[in-house]
Amino acid sequence: MLEQLQIKNLTKRFGTVIANDRVTFDVRRGEIHCLFGENGAGKSTLAECIYGTYRSESGTICFNGELVEFNSPRDAIQLGIGMIHQHFVLVPPLTVLENIIVGTEDAKVLLNTQKAENKFKELCARYELKLNGHAAIWDLSVGEQQWVEILKALYLDVKFLILDEPTAVLTPEESDKLFRILNVMKRQGISIVLITHKLKEVMQSDRVTVMRKGKIINTVDTKSTTREQLTHMMISSELAVQGLKKKINSESTVVQIKKLDVRGPRGGYAVKDLNLTLNSHEIVGIAGVAGNGQKELFETLVGIQSPESGEVWLDTEDITHWSPAEILAAGVGHIPQDRYREGLIGQLSIVDNLLLGMHRSPRFAQRGFLDQERVRAFVQEQVDQFEIVAPSIDTVVGNLSGGNAQKVVLARELFQASVVLLANQPTRGLDISIADYVHRQLLEKRKEGYAILLASEELDELIKLSDRIVVMFKGQIAGEFVADNPDLEQIGLLMAGGNL
Ligand SMILES: Nc1ncnc2c1ncn2[C@@H]1O[C@H](COP(=O)(O)OP(=O)(O)O)[C@@H](O)[C@H]1O
Ligand SMILES: [Mg+2]
Repeated sequence: MLEQLQIKNLTKRFGTVIANDRVTFDVRRGEIHCLFGENGAGKSTLAECIYGTYRSESGTICFNGELVEFNSPRDAIQLGIGMIHQHFVLVPPLTVLENIIVGTEDAKVLLNTQKAENKFKELCARYELKLNGHAAIWDLSVGEQQWVEILKALYLDVKFLILDEPTAVLTPEESDKLFRILNVMKRQGISIVLITHKLKEVMQSDRVTVMRKGKIINTVDTKSTTREQLTHMMISSELAVQGLKKKINSESTVVQIKKLDVRGPRGGYAVKDLNLTLNSHEIVGIAGVAGNGQKELFETLVGIQSPESGEVWLDTEDITHWSPAEILAAGVGHIPQDRYREGLIGQLSIVDNLLLGMHRSPRFAQRGFLDQERVRAFVQEQVDQFEIVAPSIDTVVGNLSGGNAQKVVLARELFQASVVLLANQPTRGLDISIADYVHRQLLEKRKEGYAILLASEELDELIKLSDRIVVMFKGQIAGEFVADNPDLEQIGLLMAGGNL
């Protein structure tokens, strides 16, 4: 029998939301099967139904050819089904080995510790993983923790493993390594369901199933499909940005960052001796794992932080020690990394948030008073233009979805900025259609001549949008690439702290 798992017409609701709508889905023995779709498409819900966390209202699940009904994950685990969740469930103070055997019979019998350690070592060898069984979880990197999660499943002799977006937190090298591990599992006959929204990973699978709004759109052989077809299946309308980015000759320097040193929160240097130039009509992408000084660099450029030394020039002016208000007034917009903590005031309305920093603008204020009519007309215009979905312009921003909240930040910053746009992770956590909207806005501003600095952890995004890509590692520029056809391996290596 080819199929190890067969699901027919499975439906699962949460209140009025149909998270899985008559889903029919099968997984073949020993294949890597990707489940691909936007946020909220219903992927995790389907996985939890297979794993026994949720019970579906209707539909059937067959495993190894037999009809099953799981009351809890315990039932699924007993049949050899394992799942690695989006968020780690390891216990930080315990060691690697303790985490792997916790909950198994081996944890109960002291004598079995040696047996457990032997099995652990054997698994490490088979999967080419270097892990110290006696290290505490909190001393491990995120990547290493991911390997522990996998070993934990393998220790239970899983025959069927579901991984829910495991690579969201991995560097490109680590994600390659994950695929090497998955391929070893596959050769052992283990079936794998990998939930991801990264096309690069989907393309390495055997088959892919695309979900959209709770429904299965299609299941295809990966070999016989393309990235474009998959994207098209995933989003309802054709939104692909491809082709929008045309080479524009940019010659005039807009921003010059010279030998910048910025202190980090823990006293050391977050940014060290950084030099970078931004030209008009250009998007410079910063690749790098978050926490390598991107936040401090952006905050220095917008005046929130003061550098210890070095200079920032905007055209012919030294703006190194200008205030945020002065920098904003000079035409520099900022889309911050954390839109709720830095970009918006959650308790205030869309009107008030859109007006932040513009209260004294002659456009809205007359003799010190805001012209409410003008203000509301302007806000409504912005809401329409950016297609912000909200009950009214007086809705409190904290009640908007992430995508709509980000559009408020975007509307305000794009309106105020006139020469430079600084965007730090502007699409993090957004649906692909809204991310695409943000991309279009950035490319539009590039066409208008803005100099744009864009930091992102998604290499695909940087390649799609940037003219140049620089890699940031430990506060420094570790390398620079032309974004036409960059060497991804080299970029990944630099992101992880390696040398070329
Ligand atoms: N525990 C829950 N309670 C209520 N609604 C939920 C719950 N889990 C998921 N949903 C809703 O079900 C839909 C599908 O979510 P999910 O399966 O998490 O999607 P995905 O994993 O593809 O991002 C979404 O609209 C989500 O808001
Ligand atoms: Mg999910």
